[in-house]
Amino acid sequence: MTNITNRQIRLAGRPVGLPTASDWELTEEPVPDLREGQVLVKVHYISVDPAMRGWMMDRESYVPPLKLGDVMRALTVGEVIASQNPNLGPGDFVAGVDGVQEYAISDGSLLLQVDTSLAPLPAYLNTLGIAGLTAYCGLLEVGAPRAGETVVVSGAAGSVGAHVGQLAKLKGCRAVGIAGGPRKCAFLTDELGFDAAIDYKSEDLDAGLARSCPDGIDLFFDNVGGESLDAALALINFHARVVICGAISQYNATTAIEGPRNYLNLLIRSARLEGFIYFNWRDRWPAMIAELANWRAEGKLKCPDDIVEGGVAVFPETLPRLFSGDNFGKLMIKVAD
Ligand SMILES: NC(=O)c1ccc[n+]([C@@H]2O[C@H](COP(=O)([O-])OP(=O)(O)OC[C@H]3O[C@@H](n4cnc5c(N)ncnc54)[C@H](OP(=O)(O)O)[C@@H]3O)[C@@H](O)[C@H]2O)c1
Repeated sequence: MTNITNRQIRLAGRPVGLPTASDWELTEEPVPDLREGQVLVKVHYISVDPAMRGWMMDRESYVPPLKLGDVMRALTVGEVIASQNPNLGPGDFVAGVDGVQEYAISDGSLLLQVDTSLAPLPAYLNTLGIAGLTAYCGLLEVGAPRAGETVVVSGAAGSVGAHVGQLAKLKGCRAVGIAGGPRKCAFLTDELGFDAAIDYKSEDLDAGLARSCPDGIDLFFDNVGGESLDAALALINFHARVVICGAISQYNATTAIEGPRNYLNLLIRSARLEGFIYFNWRDRWPAMIAELANWRAEGKLKCPDDIVEGGVAVFPETLPRLFSGDNFGKLMIKVAD
């Protein structure tokens, strides 16, 4: 047993609707000694992601469901501080899935070594991590945009959406974003170079899309689902691609999710609707990260880090911010320097 104390957030309940404080338990325990092949990571930043809401449910998904009492699953970046694994040593910085805790022991198989001379650690949860990689895989690999096409993205001012619009511009497309509120919409057009933004909180979505997409929609990248998906399907062009990245408007639903009413346009316009998980390109992440890093260094890919101080204890009050839109950029929690 080491003399290091680890603090963790564990799943204590299955929420109905929005997660609350009673769904979590803060625990403390000593860090055990490492066994052969194991790595001890000191977590510096924890990624706070909408997918966490799904991971709290007892149902099959692309990852196994968490059991009550498990440390909450989370993407992390941190530093190796002890190792019995020949592939990683003390001082190495790594991105991984180490959970909402201060220290994590693993066999290292999910750890990806990151280069902090290329970009600071939080970037590996943002442009060079889940946000940039999801946009890259979903837009460039699944959606395959062509120059001159109109790309619309929902949840556009969020961490994935912001990258989608900027990547669309890099590929010579017209980029239109849907986001909540004037500050986020101005950020899209004035800071990120989107051609148009629709504030779904103050403008009717159908009217906003008709105004911003006079030539229809060639590629719709959906982070939100529900009404956004319906409104976009109404305007898709022949051979359009509809990329299902997420459906945050549905994650806290307490009644059955309804399918899109306008889906027959997929048939009429010979269009394609396809979902994806960015994990599926894991073997290509290093090459994608190198490309994203170049664009980031050239100032062509930007997304603010929305860093919450306070360590693992603030996780229960931080997760709901994603569902109220009270985040600006990539939401993460700082655990250590
Ligand atoms: N498929 C994959 O591999 C993959 C990987 C990562 C993320 N995702 C998905 O990508 C999406 C975006 O994730 P992110 O991490 O970038 O989060 P984010 O967009 O940074 O934050 C969530 C945003 O969603 C918007 N939102 C919340 N509730 C909403 C509602 N009812 N209607 C409309 N908008 C709502 C809010 O923005 P406004 O203020 O604009 O409302 C909020 O800021 C999520 O659906 C997530 O599950 C998928």
